[in-house]
Amino acid sequence: MTLTRIMFVGGFACLAIYLLVSAPEPLPDGDMRAAGCRHPVNAMFDGVNAINQVARGIYTKRIVGGGLAAGLKFGEDWQEPGVEQGPLPALFLRATAAHLETLPPRLGLFLGSDAPINKSNLIGEAQKAVFSEVKSTRVAAYSEDTQIGFVAMYPDVAGVAPCVTCHNDHVDSPKKDWKLNDVMGATTWTYPEAEVSADQFFAVVDAVYTSVAHTYGAYLDKTADFAQPVAIGDAWPSTTQRVLPTTEAFLEEVRQQAAPALVQAMMHDRQPPSSQMAVQASRGDVSCGF
Ligand code: HEC
Repeated sequence: MTLTRIMFVGGFACLAIYLLVSAPEPLPDGDMRAAGCRHPVNAMFDGVNAINQVARGIYTKRIVGGGLAAGLKFGEDWQEPGVEQGPLPALFLRATAAHLETLPPRLGLFLGSDAPINKSNLIGEAQKAVFSEVKSTRVAAYSEDTQIGFVAMYPDVAGVAPCVTCHNDHVDSPKKDWKLNDVMGATTWTYPEAEVSADQFFAVVDAVYTSVAHTYGAYLDKTADFAQPVAIGDAWPSTTQRVLPTTEAFLEEVRQQAAPALVQAMMHDRQPPSSQMAVQASRGDVSCGF
């Protein structure tokens, strides 16, 4: 085996262990070199955005879609006492972002638009130019902001008809002519540093999973007060089952579906060996396994 291959296998083993084990354990001996890897912050943004996309997709299709079929309700006032509802997907994301703010990694998450239903979701002046770019290119834009650090903005597209109808019909929507496939807004992530170590990468990924689980758990807690409580177990809601999966089952599904994109995010943009060695030599870093 060449040295590069040994390092690659070592790094990949480390990542595989992380992805398969729910709780983050310290990196096993022999894989410690992976902790010396520096990942560009944009790769980290791609990773956490993939998790968020997967979580939102599963929540929208399987919990809201399946839940509506099972007779459950979802709305804007879901947190109000006596309201027997779950969060709309946009509110699920907002609650996840709010929890993320309470955790140590200084990762910011924001779902915004230039024509928002909720004025607090208005994209700020500083980000308007980048959002115009995202709208026209329909791909992610990475930028730097003197106030908040590094910023990644991902288009939020009206992929299904309910996005359009619900927003167009909403009393607070300033725009009533959304069409299918319009870029309705953007998911924005912020982080103060240009590069992260593998440990920081894992800590950030973990914070996102924890926040997703926290939000879903808050919904399950709310259902305990429903006049007709919802059974909680391993099953997912459907026309025949008025049930909800446990937080663990929900998170497991998110982890499994997000894993391939997360691996890709961790593997891409790694430095070619020559420049990597030059950087390491100047910094005294150990070599990077992936
Ligand atoms: C059942 C109604 C409903 C559906 C369906 C819906 N949304 Fe929303 N959406 C809302 C509400 C209400 C808000 C405001 C939530 C808040 O208070 O932050 C919102 C917020 C947003 C925002 C943040 C900007 C704003 O308008 O406040 C974006 C972007 C967004 N939705 C995109 C989408 C996309 C894309 C889809 C489809 C995948 C979608 N929405 C489906 C009701 C809906």
